[in-house]
Amino acid sequence: MPDADRNAVADKDYGIGVPVANPAFPLKGANNYDWGMKDRLARIFDARSTRTVMLAFDHGYIMGPTSGLERIDLSILPIGDLADCLMCTRGALRACIPPTMNKPVALRCSAGSTVLTELNNEVIGVEIEDAIRLNASAMAAMVAIGSQFEALTIKNLCLLVETGNRYGIPTLGVCAVGKELTRDARYLGLACRVIAENGAQFVKTYFCEPDFEKVTAACPVPIIIAGGKKLPEKEALAMARKAIDQGAAGVDMGRNIFQAEAPRAMIKAVRAVVHDGLTPEAAFEMYKDLQAKS
Ligand code: R5P
Repeated sequence: MPDADRNAVADKDYGIGVPVANPAFPLKGANNYDWGMKDRLARIFDARSTRTVMLAFDHGYIMGPTSGLERIDLSILPIGDLADCLMCTRGALRACIPPTMNKPVALRCSAGSTVLTELNNEVIGVEIEDAIRLNASAMAAMVAIGSQFEALTIKNLCLLVETGNRYGIPTLGVCAVGKELTRDARYLGLACRVIAENGAQFVKTYFCEPDFEKVTAACPVPIIIAGGKKLPEKEALAMARKAIDQGAAGVDMGRNIFQAEAPRAMIKAVRAVVHDGLTPEAAFEMYKDLQAKS
């Protein structure tokens, strides 16, 4: 409608002469993504620190009822509110996680083998429609660089990237675990780079020493680390600190949180390392204090 009072036009503020803000998107390599993709990544990575503490509990898809995950309702629900993102399968999500938890989800989309057979012989088991139905903020596929399933798992990754790009859902490429695969900087650096070059918007790998900073430097998108097997709490916190200091954008941690003596205290301590810059010593003190109070 035209202004009833034509003089009111003079009072409007068009900000003449004020440049339009055009802030860069803060995640590594993400500046040229479309809005929906950025929005989903911004739900996963904390705006303040641009890092993430993801809680991984997708282990059952290859290992069955993993220690600490026998009852996801009893182990994950009491700590899920402290995660920036949940990483799980669609089966666990629908059966055990109430949508009212309202957390971004990195949905495990590759499947096909278990610890009883050939690990990493996977296909994409989740259609994009189901990922959208579940409101996934990311889709994840295992990639087994250097194994007999290299081509197959790269193809799986490319399929997720292709469909994810169509609908604005980022893909998390997960460096495979496997007895025959070495976890040193040479291997992990190559694997992470290959995963990023194939279009993954972020990459999950393992921390390694020495030279983890070369792994993160050579990867053009954010790297987050898996926790791996359960360590003493202080060691797990020290690993997270070293990974962040050497360029990781966060953790996707499972067993070192849900198998900890005090899982809620542990995820708080991990958050303090990742988001607030605590030393492992200070974070471990925090863990012990919280454990004593729980
Ligand atoms: C690997 O891809 C698994 O499915 C887990 O998501 C991953 O290993 C992170 O869990 P954890 O910290 O227990 O190693």
